[in-house]
Amino acid sequence: MERRSGCGVHQICFLFLLLFSLYPVCCRASWTWLGITSVGVPEKLGCANLPLTHKQKDLCKRKPHLLQSIKDGARIGIAECQTQFEHERWNCSTTKELSVFGYELTSGTKETAFIHAVMAAGLVQAVTRSCSAGNVTECGCDTSLQGTGSPSEGWHWGGCSDHIQYGTWFSRKFIDNAVKNMSSARGGDALLTMNQHNSEAGRQAVAKTMATDCRCHGVSGSCAVKTCWRTMASFERVGNFLKERYEGSVQVLDRSKRKVRRKEKDQRHVPIGKEELIFLNKSPNYCLEDRRWGVAGTRGRRCNRTSAGPDGCNLLCCGRGYNTHVVRHVERCECKFVWCCYVRCQKCESMNDMHTCK
Ligand SMILES: *[C@@H]1O[C@H](CO)[C@@H](O)[C@H](O)[C@H]1NC(C)=O
Ligand SMILES: *[C@@H]1O[C@H](CO)[C@@H](O)[C@H](O)[C@H]1NC(C)=O
Ligand SMILES: *[C@@H]1O[C@H](CO)[C@@H](O)[C@H](O)[C@H]1NC(C)=O
Ligand SMILES: *[C@@H]1O[C@H](CO)[C@@H](O)[C@H](O)[C@H]1NC(C)=O
Repeated sequence: MERRSGCGVHQICFLFLLLFSLYPVCCRASWTWLGITSVGVPEKLGCANLPLTHKQKDLCKRKPHLLQSIKDGARIGIAECQTQFEHERWNCSTTKELSVFGYELTSGTKETAFIHAVMAAGLVQAVTRSCSAGNVTECGCDTSLQGTGSPSEGWHWGGCSDHIQYGTWFSRKFIDNAVKNMSSARGGDALLTMNQHNSEAGRQAVAKTMATDCRCHGVSGSCAVKTCWRTMASFERVGNFLKERYEGSVQVLDRSKRKVRRKEKDQRHVPIGKEELIFLNKSPNYCLEDRRWGVAGTRGRRCNRTSAGPDGCNLLCCGRGYNTHVVRHVERCECKFVWCCYVRCQKCESMNDMHTCK
């Protein structure tokens, strides 16, 4: 597969531009901060001025109230990716470039797979949240369960069950449909097929991790009657689910037209599940910096000397060894409650070893 650069995947570039054009460059890395400040979309960033495909512009104009959800979806997607990969060689860092995730957005590796899955899932989650909050006219709570349940077991469906159908539809429409036109000219494209499969796997992850929540009623919490509703899992749970799929992702043949098949010869007949993540190209080892592909390398990364996992110095530093620094750590300690009403603490200092890859 040919390596590509630039904004090959229009919709994610859009998510990026939308996010980053709204915030000062200074604070790109601080995603939690973005969460606090994401209020309102500046007037001038109307649908017409956004770098969208025709189809996306149409969709945006028809549903301008979902712009906020698109932004939220992108934010939680990127944040979850960075949390999941915090201690790995590839740590899902974003760049100032239009391609957000740099080379990994289009490299066709399992990292590309994870990115597409988590971004599509983020969009489903954010739109659905908006539906459940009553912010979108086209969708609301899932009422199909209302009135049913199991009275004999003392519970019934009630409250607001998350209705993910609309969010799923929107995520498909916004992410998948928008690029079909771009590729049809070239008669299909293995990378596009891969990306769409993985985006769908991301949406499936939201569906598969849904859970049931209940609330008790009755005299002083006796729980004589329970009201239950279907709810989306936390996005962290969705991220864990996708990370597991990433670990077990399947390499497929790089053929654009025919059905997607496993690359491994004796496995070709085994069908590929909707929830599985697929990739075309083996990943680089991410050990050394390679500017051509935007690989940062692991030099200077913090590692854990005693861990046997990916954050262990041996694995993270690729056997190059590590430096040890002593860092002074100051914290509040031996806090005492003083009547009335404050807490008095001591300052405790400790010296800790910190290891970073050579
Ligand atoms: C599809 O692509 C063609 C050119 O390749 C363009 O003229 C047309 O407007 C596009 N249609 C949509 C709906 O984006
Ligand atoms: C990822 O690692 C690089 C160093 O290789 C570091 O500069 C960057 O801040 C890290 N990114 C995140 C999101 O942790
Ligand atoms: C719903 O809309 C209100 C008012 O615009 C906003 O404050 C809130 O964050 C929205 N909730 C969601 C989940 O979109
Ligand atoms: C390092 O790894 C060990 C074993 O996995 C763990 O118990 C410890 O908390 C880790 N230390 C840090 C600083 O993360």
